[in-house]
Amino acid sequence: MTDIEKLLSSCLFEIENSRTTKRLDDIKVAVLGKNGKLTEFLKSLKDMPEDKRKIAGTEINAAKTEILNSISSKAVRLEIAELEKKLASEFVDVTMPARVRPSGNLHPLTKVADEIADILSEYGFTFAEGPNIESEYYNFTALNIPDHHPARTMHDTFYLNYPADRKEGRKLLRTHTSPVQIRAMLANNKPPFRYFSIGRVYRSDYDATHTPMFNQIEGLMVGEGISFAHLKYLMTDFLKKFFGVPQIELRLRPSFFPFTEPSTEIDINYKIKGGKIIFGSGDKWMEVVGGGVVHPNVLKAGNIDSKKYRGIAFGFGLERLTSLKYGVSDLRGYFESDSRWREAFGFSYAAK
Ligand code: DAH
Repeated sequence: MTDIEKLLSSCLFEIENSRTTKRLDDIKVAVLGKNGKLTEFLKSLKDMPEDKRKIAGTEINAAKTEILNSISSKAVRLEIAELEKKLASEFVDVTMPARVRPSGNLHPLTKVADEIADILSEYGFTFAEGPNIESEYYNFTALNIPDHHPARTMHDTFYLNYPADRKEGRKLLRTHTSPVQIRAMLANNKPPFRYFSIGRVYRSDYDATHTPMFNQIEGLMVGEGISFAHLKYLMTDFLKKFFGVPQIELRLRPSFFPFTEPSTEIDINYKIKGGKIIFGSGDKWMEVVGGGVVHPNVLKAGNIDSKKYRGIAFGFGLERLTSLKYGVSDLRGYFESDSRWREAFGFSYAAK
């Protein structure tokens, strides 16, 4: 074996066993650099006799080519291995489920209130508002519920510890949204008009179907020639849209409210199928709304000419409508801010 062959073989061995591209560079310098081992052989050529020089020169050049080829092929393999190692350490499992972000969403009552507002707006009803702290006058007297009328005690009113006003009486937390009718009429007593209101009301009552605070939806429509028929049509159409059904039957039962005459409580038909309540078919009845033709005294309290104009009014419970639509059995869940409750009734819309 010539010296060059020995150098070549040990050099190829070292190249093959290199673990890093840095090591390959070092080998290259040590063999082919200015003072490299193979370079030394080249330098020694000039002292050789002509015939040997030619052979040795060819051998050195062949060795050089082989070393360079070996280095570059090893470099490629080392780079691939280094890349694979890096990829393995930075592996991302794209099939893993994305983390469920904490989600915020509107309270179910807010969502349903928005839905109701949308439907009523389609009929030209505009939003009207009144204060939560009302007076006896607006909450009762103006609505044709005189002093000592039993309806006043029926409402389980929360009275405020506040001096009574000579004209408006005691301050209280409104027991229904009907006083908004009076405020809306006083703000605009030029019929025709249609108002609705959605808001909190308060009664001293607490069990599975009663909470001391709940929400009502109130509607009032005043104009010439308005009659009970308008109420019936409006309620039928509204309830169909609200429950998202193509048809619905209404049962109008005679009832009593001091602020309407005649008054009615309206039931809609339903059936139970697979443990779920389905509205608009079946022969069972569920009460959903109270309403009637506005009592002339109420129009007068709103400064409306009760000889010329007639009105219809209606009142819903927002929690009740929401519960019927979504199958909620205990009203108290609405006010307990428990996300498990929201999810159980399908009110949570978190991306899963
Ligand atoms: N204010 C009534 C209540 O709280 C509901 C109601 C009934 C409102 C009839 C109305 C109506 O406007 O016409 O029980």
